[in-house]
Amino acid sequence: MTLPQFTLIDNRDDAVTASRAEAVIIGTVQGEDGVEVADGAQAVDAAFDGTLTEVLSALGAKGKADEVVKIPTFGRLTAPVVVAAGLGKRAEGGVTAEQVRRASGAAARALNGASHALTTLSAIDLQASVEGTALGAYTFTEYKSEPNGHSLTEVEVLRPVSGEHDEHRNTLTAASAIASAVALARDLVNTPPNELFPASFADRAREQAEAEGLSVEVLDEKDLERGRYGGILGVGGGSARKPRLVRLRYRGERPVAKVALVGKGITFDTGGISIKPAANMENMTSDMAGAAAVLATAVLAAKLRYPLEVTAYLPLAENMPSATAYRPGDVLEMYGGKTVEVINTDAEGRLVLADAIVRAAEDDPDYLIETSTLTGAQPIALGNRTAGVMGSDEFRDRVADVARRTGEGGWAMPLPEELRADLDSRVADIANVTGNRWGGMLVAGVFLREFVAENLPWAHIDVAGPAYNTTSAWGYTGKGGTGVPVRTLAAVLAEIAGSGD
Ligand code: BES
Ligand code: MN
Ligand code: ZN
Repeated sequence: MTLPQFTLIDNRDDAVTASRAEAVIIGTVQGEDGVEVADGAQAVDAAFDGTLTEVLSALGAKGKADEVVKIPTFGRLTAPVVVAAGLGKRAEGGVTAEQVRRASGAAARALNGASHALTTLSAIDLQASVEGTALGAYTFTEYKSEPNGHSLTEVEVLRPVSGEHDEHRNTLTAASAIASAVALARDLVNTPPNELFPASFADRAREQAEAEGLSVEVLDEKDLERGRYGGILGVGGGSARKPRLVRLRYRGERPVAKVALVGKGITFDTGGISIKPAANMENMTSDMAGAAAVLATAVLAAKLRYPLEVTAYLPLAENMPSATAYRPGDVLEMYGGKTVEVINTDAEGRLVLADAIVRAAEDDPDYLIETSTLTGAQPIALGNRTAGVMGSDEFRDRVADVARRTGEGGWAMPLPEELRADLDSRVADIANVTGNRWGGMLVAGVFLREFVAENLPWAHIDVAGPAYNTTSAWGYTGKGGTGVPVRTLAAVLAEIAGSGD
């Protein structure tokens, strides 16, 4: 979808009260003695003769997260309605960026088709309010004959009291770029699997990348055979839509580090011959969320001109059962020569990733980050909102920290040595699954570790739960594709770019 247009407005006179917006968004806080009006809403409160807290309280507002209360203005403001979005309790250092992002998202979702809004949450945190508003307003109507109602096209953004105009303009530009990267990942995840298959995904990747000046290389099935990519070919073999391996490269000016990104791109996962049950199988349209995220992040890195060399790999395949499908018992010779015994064709992600990870190491990166909707065990261990982060100790911890700081969420998980023995194979170097269910998320990480170059700092982010929201909307996250972990990947890149290591 296209993002709304954001315009900065100065914090003076009647900028808020005389705005022609259809709704003015303010924040509320859950204080010790009930609801409080957050910073940025002073002009609105004055227009209500200082009665805003009383009005909110009478309407039952508490200031809790995800609470939205609407107040008609009856002419006190030019805008007909004030939308009061709960930020929750004030944290020790004040309201956090993620609180602002979520409240902005909840407010945007509650606008009911208004096309022009004004936000005052930006006075608390400009970047977070823009990201949250844009992402909360996100809808995917590509396949609706009659998209219901209008959508948000114009947002006035109240400038914070401190800071220069130029600085605010730059923040706004960065926030919009980040939000559009997340929206791109969401769009790809939300595109149905009959439309988004390996070749069409590769085309869209090429389009996006070339528009930002990245170099693009796409290996088709013949190239993959010549290159002996046994994992990608094995998994993709059951589908009439042949697999691809996309490689994108952004080279910033005077790069301080080389980062490789790898994302799982199973455009649909039926499980293959080890077929999945019918219930909820449709959710496997999201099994390319990792590839969507690394594509969006590489394009964003170019847009924001990070001083890095970023190379993204998208191993794309459709996992289908058919007469040409790979089977349990097959032995695949992976890219680079290791052999894998396939015990379960539904553990396909690790197979396409292994090929891409080995290939990525040939570029001699300083860091490798791979992300995937890899295991059903991930949401069982950590729930639907916390990604599992594995890899080499230091870099894994750093990525998990960043994931939490962005508000996307993530937790460091171990790769216990003893699990490796469970992957021993009778016939090949390694099997793709163990004979038991224990530590399924970690086992997948242990499998991947076998394909990561020695001493390369790497992180594996399992987003099986967080990448796709099958429950209800919350904060700036609607149903369907969430765009996770784009903001985490972007923040890790920004950190590496900033620190030079
Ligand atoms: N794509 C799935 C993992 C998944 C499950 C993602 C639920 C999102 C929601 C993956 O390919 C898979 O099928 N994993 C198997 C591995 C098992 C066979 C070892 C799983 O988790 O059941
Ligand atoms: Mn699977
Ligand atoms: Zn899968």
